[in-house]
Amino acid sequence: MGKRQRWDSRTIFIFAAIGSAAGLGNAWRFPYQAATNGGGAFLIPYFIALITAGIPLLILEFSVGHKFQAGAPTAFGKIKKGWETLGWWAILVSFVIVTYYAVIMAWVFNYLWHSLTLAWGDLPTDFFFNEVLSITSGPGVLGGFRIPVLIGLIIAWAAIYWTVRDGVKSVGKVVKWTVPLPIIMLGILVIRGLTLPGSIEGISYYLNPDFSKLLDIKVWAAAYGQIFFSLSVSFGVMVAYASYLPKKSDITNNAIITALANCGISFLAGFAVFGTLGYMAFQKGAAVADVAGSGGLGLAFCVYPEAINMLPFGSVIFALVFFIMLLTLGIDSAFSLVEGVVVGLSDKWGWKKKKVTRLTILVGFVISLLYATKGGLYWLDIVDHYVNDFGIIGVALFEVILVGWIYKTKKLREHVNPISDIKLGSWYDVFIKFITPLVLGVILIWNIIQEIIDVINGNLYEGYPLWAILIGGWLVAALLIVLSILLRKTKTDYQLKEDIKE
Ligand code: PHE
Repeated sequence: MGKRQRWDSRTIFIFAAIGSAAGLGNAWRFPYQAATNGGGAFLIPYFIALITAGIPLLILEFSVGHKFQAGAPTAFGKIKKGWETLGWWAILVSFVIVTYYAVIMAWVFNYLWHSLTLAWGDLPTDFFFNEVLSITSGPGVLGGFRIPVLIGLIIAWAAIYWTVRDGVKSVGKVVKWTVPLPIIMLGILVIRGLTLPGSIEGISYYLNPDFSKLLDIKVWAAAYGQIFFSLSVSFGVMVAYASYLPKKSDITNNAIITALANCGISFLAGFAVFGTLGYMAFQKGAAVADVAGSGGLGLAFCVYPEAINMLPFGSVIFALVFFIMLLTLGIDSAFSLVEGVVVGLSDKWGWKKKKVTRLTILVGFVISLLYATKGGLYWLDIVDHYVNDFGIIGVALFEVILVGWIYKTKKLREHVNPISDIKLGSWYDVFIKFITPLVLGVILIWNIIQEIIDVINGNLYEGYPLWAILIGGWLVAALLIVLSILLRKTKTDYQLKEDIKE
């Protein structure tokens, strides 16, 4: 394999990292998590999660990638043989996520088109489910493809391919645009939202603190889950990105800048979303909670479009701004996931990155076809729920165990401190060795217990049939673990050569 590629500059690396972190999760996941988990009070567990787990893990992933100059599987394998499995697990989780993330991007492409005529009219919810998706009666009925979604999907994958085709070289060129652009657009939407009558009601729904929620472990689990998903840690992505940093390169400050920028974007998005929803509630003479819906996809494709229709002027423009923002926010998260997978595969097999990129994208595209069917949304929802609740937290937990207890955080600090602006003290060890694993362990066990109770009570996620949950949740999880082990077990000629060199 030739010389490892490098980022053009520190700024480009930070842009790419922020691009990966700031995605759809910031625009619609954070505002709802905050509003429904204690409002302003949610910021407390969120901030604690950021300090005790988010930033320490981001530093950890940056350092591991930088130190071992490799993607997650190879890097973890170098720390301790056998732990390569964990790296594959992280990467497979990423792969699963990008297969449905691309479909959401496809919907956004559809909506860009529909924005021109505000095609959703007065019934955006109907429009989304019946026109755009043409949704079937349940996960058992796939119902063939929805052609416009399929076209959007092809465009999404083509855009991803085009961006990652030359690795960090081409990624660097794209993030220069796709990172600042959505921030500017978000700024426009915030100003628009806050200058509408009724917006204050929306903001107070978003931020009014309900401190009693802090006693609920669910709120804490939500805060930690949101931090991991949002910072893109425990996916192998940040390890891969940092493996392209030059030898002398800051680690800690880069991590802090990335984390703060990402959380700032989330916080700001709340003002855009709830300012506008406040206005909609005002227009309808309803409570904000009633117009807000249940968050998630509904917000982007149903609730927000409805609010856009009610704007006093410029609806088409604001619709375009909103969907271009979603597109540019999401696209760099999507290609970072692909890049993480590609780096993992090419580092192990020593294959040409171009070849691996094409293969990954081809397989990803084929799998994503499932979600582009008329019943695809059901599967997207199930897979997303299980991967997030168990996959991510699980990877993060084992990562801190590996680095904290097997590799030793002291060694990590010795690698980071000479090259970084901000030095890590022994407090860092306390986080990685004790606090983070403890919190993650509690959340994971709590999620598992909750899941078992729900299954016993027949209270299945979103009321889906058991067989669908078993396939989309448990079978996928089991497959990921088996595949991670298989991937580790295959010794490549390239890897043998590398082993001998050491
Ligand atoms: N952080 C992204 C978001 O908030 C999602 C993502 C997760 C991207 C993992 C890359 C890796 O939408």
